[in-house]
Amino acid sequence: MLRFEQVTKIYSGQRVVDCLDLEVKKGEFLVLIGPSGCGKTTTLKMINRLIEPSEGKIYMNGTDISRLDPVQLRRQIGYVIQQVGLFPNMTIQQNVDVVLRLLKRPLQERQERVRELLAMVGMDPALYAERYPNELSGGQQQRIGVLRALAADPPLILMDEPFGALDPITRESLQDEFKRLQEKLHKTIVFVTHDMDEALKLADRIVLMKDGRIVQAGPPEELLRHPANDFVAFFFGKKRKENEIYLETVDEVMNPAPVTIRPEQGVAEGVELMRRRHVDSLFVVDKEERFLGQVTIESLNREHLRAHQIIELLDTNVPTVLAGSKAETAFRIMTEQRLKYVPVVDTEGRLVGLVTRTSMVNALASVVWGDGISA
Ligand SMILES: Nc1ncnc2c1ncn2[C@@H]1O[C@H](COP(=O)(O)OP(=O)(O)O)[C@@H](O)[C@H]1O
Ligand SMILES: [Mg+2]
Repeated sequence: MLRFEQVTKIYSGQRVVDCLDLEVKKGEFLVLIGPSGCGKTTTLKMINRLIEPSEGKIYMNGTDISRLDPVQLRRQIGYVIQQVGLFPNMTIQQNVDVVLRLLKRPLQERQERVRELLAMVGMDPALYAERYPNELSGGQQQRIGVLRALAADPPLILMDEPFGALDPITRESLQDEFKRLQEKLHKTIVFVTHDMDEALKLADRIVLMKDGRIVQAGPPEELLRHPANDFVAFFFGKKRKENEIYLETVDEVMNPAPVTIRPEQGVAEGVELMRRRHVDSLFVVDKEERFLGQVTIESLNREHLRAHQIIELLDTNVPTVLAGSKAETAFRIMTEQRLKYVPVVDTEGRLVGLVTRTSMVNALASVVWGDGISA
């Protein structure tokens, strides 16, 4: 979709963007990140020719953009900036459909499009279309800025710290909303931020810049796990520590309340309990909560005519891990032995929790997204 070839921008002898080679694929969500002044905004503005490169070429779908009429070019590119740039004396309808008006689309079509867009971000068109920007919250104004960029359905969207001025909660919800939107729209997006959490959350691929050059480019996972140098590791410093899954113990990732049954209980009770709790295994414990083994839906299904009590179906050959073990140990056992879960027992042999595949997914997600951990 986009290709930078040895693109350089020089301001008063200084190379603020320096021999940039970069390719953006169609439908890709690319995040440019780096410290203030590293050349992110300059890079972005060269795409819609608000800034012209000093050297090198930028191609859009194979065409050298310096050969295109800048106005024509910009109509194919949505642009969202932090200061929103809504026109205060225009209604929301007029703000969103500004490009469509330039394209001389009929009023009815424009109104329909604005209704559709507002509905897409959960803003009731009847309520908002005729309002003015100052009647909206900061988060709503920023939404309108995004909708305006989407209005003419351009294939490429440039976003320069679009959520940077919002409070953290509004920012998070707009990020989530925008990510969902993108999953539907499949736009090609070049998104500038200096907020690493934002980059990790949104990006298909992150391009980390420093002094006008690319330090490392790759999927979030790759930058976290294999930083190319100390700068990358430092930039992702906080995440880097969390990267080590084995720092977490099973206690932090386990489900603390597995569904249990006593050995002397009836088989029919076991079936009923599974049905009620939506599980396909029960963990058998004695009255001191000591772990004895499990019964599975398969054995119940096979033996329910023959057996009367749970103890008759008890499978005692179940790998367990000790409370306080590294989560990684449990994950390794599960992976190697192809298990769906591993019970966690304390030093007295009492069942204290269950590490499941969901725990594993959540622990991995916390590495990538920095969420709290839940089993
Ligand atoms: N019009 C300009 N004239 C001179 N220097 C500029 C101009 N615009 C940006 N710069 C300089 O270029 C560098 C990169 O700026 P910019 O791309 O805005 O950085 P970022 O968006 O990464 O914070 C900075 O050192 C900035 O001071
Ligand atoms: Mg900038």
